[in-house]
Amino acid sequence: MEYEIKNIALADAGAVRIEWDARQMPVLQSIRARFEQEQPFRGMRIGVCLHISTKTANLLLTVKAGGADLTVCASNPLSTQDDVAASLVKHHDIPMFAIRGEDMETFGWHLHRVLSERPMLLMDDGADLVTTAHTDFRAQLGDIIGATEETTTGVIRLNSMARQGELTFPVVAVNESDTKHLFDNRYGTGQSALDGIIRATNVLIAGRTVVVCGYGWCGRGVASRARGLGADVVVTEVNPIQALEAVMEGYRVMPMADAVRIGDLFVTVTGNRGVIRGEHLSVMKDGVILANAGHFDVEIDLVALRALATGVRPMRPSVEEYPLPDGRRLYVLGQGRLVNLVAGEGHPAGVMDLSFANQALAAEYLTVHHNRLGPGVHRLPREIDEHIAHLKLHSMGIGYDRLTDDQTAYLNSWKG
Ligand code: ADE
Repeated sequence: MEYEIKNIALADAGAVRIEWDARQMPVLQSIRARFEQEQPFRGMRIGVCLHISTKTANLLLTVKAGGADLTVCASNPLSTQDDVAASLVKHHDIPMFAIRGEDMETFGWHLHRVLSERPMLLMDDGADLVTTAHTDFRAQLGDIIGATEETTTGVIRLNSMARQGELTFPVVAVNESDTKHLFDNRYGTGQSALDGIIRATNVLIAGRTVVVCGYGWCGRGVASRARGLGADVVVTEVNPIQALEAVMEGYRVMPMADAVRIGDLFVTVTGNRGVIRGEHLSVMKDGVILANAGHFDVEIDLVALRALATGVRPMRPSVEEYPLPDGRRLYVLGQGRLVNLVAGEGHPAGVMDLSFANQALAAEYLTVHHNRLGPGVHRLPREIDEHIAHLKLHSMGIGYDRLTDDQTAYLNSWKG
């Protein structure tokens, strides 16, 4: 079996961490038990591009238990947990192409390596596998029955492909499930972004002005957790409805041009590029910390920062200092890449249980329904979304109510 990982000797350390997280993922475990029986992926080659973490390992073991033949690469060059990659190779015979800190050329080669196995189904986070299939592996597109996509940024790219008539197969946008974005994006990013920032810097959040750039589901999570730690939270937004929601939630909302003069810590979560630019960096206070929790490393303009700075100095793991000619110093976490995965371990398993239940069930749904779905971006049906919530509540020992027949009749009648 071919693979490219950092060090196979890390495997046993990875195995214990994977086992620890398995206990926090009861919904995924129940799906795994069913897949073992039913073998929905028997004989299928599945190509995977996800963050290689303990939680992803539990998803991969679930899909493999369903009979899939997997080849896996990383969805970010800095998020791979090398011990996890090693365990998946050594203990589970899964061909892995992922090394933490790999350069962009190797990252691209690993995507190619996965696609060269001629996968029939793709599991993606950020749409790199799907876009690479459509550019560099066009001859194989006819063999691909569909793909799943994990994240907001990936869904934006796929919708753009679909609008331009480029997407040749159905993609299930896992991110669009309520049991994904309402939980993973909000509580997962909320907790793990702050966790990554604190692990990297050990700064006190209480009393600091934290500027959250973007008030989507991830931004809401980061803002709420920063407030919970005692920060004075400022929100910047481009969407007037979301800006108004942030105001009514009690946050100060202002243009970035004003926020950059008062912020101590900036967290970008917009999914767009050039959110913090040269004109902002040049007026920030001394000691400002800059972190990104959006999918790509394009939200903080590091090219502009390098041009403004007199150099760069590593201060602590995942912290780099950029001195400016006037004596101010700015600090960038995790090279502007996903701070939760670079400086921390990513989202807690308890929330990835929901996201990866969606991934597993989306892959199964595509194997059954791909012909009917046709090219385009699709949601998982409502019943599957609700079933995942039901399983999670059940695993937590929490009951909830059902409509009575009389209530159902009332909701279905218009006469009052
Ligand atoms: N761990 C594995 N996948 C992740 C993701 N997409 N976001 C955060 N943590 C993760």
